[in-house]
Amino acid sequence: MSNLHVCRHPIVQVALTRLRDVGTGPEEFRRHARRIAAGLAMEALADLPTRQSSVTTPMGACLGLEPAVPVVLVPILRAGLGLVDPILDFVPDATVWHVGLYRNEETLEPVEYYNKIPRLEPESICIVLDPMLATAGSAVRASKILKERGAVDLRMLCLLSAPEGIRKYQEEMPGVPIYTAAVDSHLNDIGYIVPGLGDAGDRLFNTSGH
Ligand code: PRP
Ligand code: URA
Repeated sequence: MSNLHVCRHPIVQVALTRLRDVGTGPEEFRRHARRIAAGLAMEALADLPTRQSSVTTPMGACLGLEPAVPVVLVPILRAGLGLVDPILDFVPDATVWHVGLYRNEETLEPVEYYNKIPRLEPESICIVLDPMLATAGSAVRASKILKERGAVDLRMLCLLSAPEGIRKYQEEMPGVPIYTAAVDSHLNDIGYIVPGLGDAGDRLFNTSGH
């Protein structure tokens, strides 16, 4: 599975274990999701182009670095929202655009309900954010929207993924790297990742049973 980056960092793997736990409540779930997103984004941006900049320390002048290209974050509503802030913490000048998609529970096809992505600068690094890559229908749709809007350097960041989703994404979006904390066993007959963590949006926003 080329272009697949599975983060083995122990801090990320410990957080993922807590995230999966059915007993983890919404506050703790959000905290661990943020921690994993930060770890994955560090990897996804390890090749961020930089240029020299200068800074004045209390002791004098010093050379340093600043980002040389725009970074664009694209969370898929709604669960992708939980991954934005931890990345903005270390890429504060990133632009955030939103794509609204939900999965039809019977067909498992993505349904689009919000899309105001403008023309994107070709030199930007665009990262699609979604906790779950299950069938990959949502991730593929969002990625195609971004390509149509001019994205050249596209990356996919998901906390958890299924082998079926990885295969589909790589077929549909060849060359786009995927950053994830785990590739689980399989999808069940209602399209959920096993062992997974359940419904990411419901767990982030405490909406299960509503
Ligand atoms: C979930 C999840 C992904 C999608 C993954 O969203 O956040 O967007 O399912 O499944 P797929 O890979 O099979 O497309 P959901 O439809 O539950 O919407 P939500 O984010 O509003 O909860
Ligand atoms: N969406 C989720 O939130 N969880 C899954 O396991 C699959 C899709």
